[in-house]
Amino acid sequence: MSAVSLKALQSKDWRRDPYAYYAELHQRGEAARLDAVRDGYDVIVYGYDAVERLLKDPAFRLMDTGYMDAHASRWRDHTVLRILKDSVFFVNGAVHARMRRLFNAVFTPRRVAALEPAIARLTDQLLDRLAAARGPVDFMAEFAFPLPSNVIGELLGVPEEDRAWFRPRVRAIGEIFELDGSTWPNMRAADAATGELLEYFAALAARRRVEPGDDLLSALVALDREQLTDAELLANLIALFNAGFVTTTHLFGCGLVILLERPDLRDGDWSAFVEEALRFAPPTHFLIRYATEDTEIGGVPVARGNSVVVAIGAANRDPRRFPDPDTFDPARPENRPLSFGAGPHFCLGAALTRAEGRVAFPRLLDRFPDLALHGDPGVPTRLQFRGYETLAVTVTGRLA
Ligand code: HEM
Repeated sequence: MSAVSLKALQSKDWRRDPYAYYAELHQRGEAARLDAVRDGYDVIVYGYDAVERLLKDPAFRLMDTGYMDAHASRWRDHTVLRILKDSVFFVNGAVHARMRRLFNAVFTPRRVAALEPAIARLTDQLLDRLAAARGPVDFMAEFAFPLPSNVIGELLGVPEEDRAWFRPRVRAIGEIFELDGSTWPNMRAADAATGELLEYFAALAARRRVEPGDDLLSALVALDREQLTDAELLANLIALFNAGFVTTTHLFGCGLVILLERPDLRDGDWSAFVEEALRFAPPTHFLIRYATEDTEIGGVPVARGNSVVVAIGAANRDPRRFPDPDTFDPARPENRPLSFGAGPHFCLGAALTRAEGRVAFPRLLDRFPDLALHGDPGVPTRLQFRGYETLAVTVTGRLA
């Protein structure tokens, strides 16, 4: 590899095996300058320590309206950006801290713990449906997607019959967060999806104001408007739905492929398995930040206004932090991957995701000990929201 280039990483071969690219990066320190014209970003940071430090450093911020105003004059033409700018994914500092306090207050460990029986019930419902299948089924469509979407639907109080409607819309919004995803057609599709989700959540929030239930949405609409404006509420509902299941879907898909390759893992500690699956096959490979001052990261100078690709997928394979990083080993001591980020924006759904993995994987394999892949699953080719699109399996282990 000559100069570090994101364009190279996006080539067909490296997309299939970004980990080989990351291994080469790790031989060159912790960060590198990019060619902003070619790559679209100024700096990439990939060493574990540097990534963790950066995510906790207030000099590096999420792309907010200040950044977008300075770099993209027409961004307000896009519904998706105009709406999501009011969500936790586009705010920093005091505004973010205010929103996050509210979310932490309603999204408590108690609420997550209370959801565990619901996770088990929703898992078993899907397993019943799988059991009824004749012949190969698509594990992604029949389990990996509906489980997290049902869990978050349960949490937010989105009626079950509406949940399938979300999938294409959430996917359309997810596309623009790929490194090269903000193309014109993708933006238009994301704009349309955002408009529809907005309308949906506005109607649902209005209903919960009148008829509150025991769900998170009812708790959120009960908040004072000074604590959370209507625009912020709706933006964050869309953000939660997006953040909440594309990622967890891929944890299930990638986790299953690992388990089927390594039957020895079935008798181990499921929490440790989930943590290692998140390290080994992180559903999100990159976060984006910009620098608010002239600074330095991993020995590389960063100028004020520079954009930074934060390669958490690479940090998880840093051999300085994880010896023998390409081996899947749930028994790693101090296994703290950066798959949920770090610092003030650390994933709000981490505890929920861990609970879903811990509850669902053993139930799946207890119910279908002969579960097997039907044909070659191929390899994921996306870098962001990385996972399998489809995964044909037979639940009996035999072809029907
Ligand atoms: C495997 C599953 C998941 C992964 C890998 C994941 C990953 C991440 C990462 C890396 C961030 C940090 C973003 C940044 O710093 O720019 C994040 C933030 C966030 N995640 Fe997750 N997530 C997952 C599941 C969930 C679930 C289930 C929910 C909701 C129930 C959720 C809600 C959020 C929210 C709201 C934030 C923004 C927090 C903030 O900015 O304060 N995530 N997630």
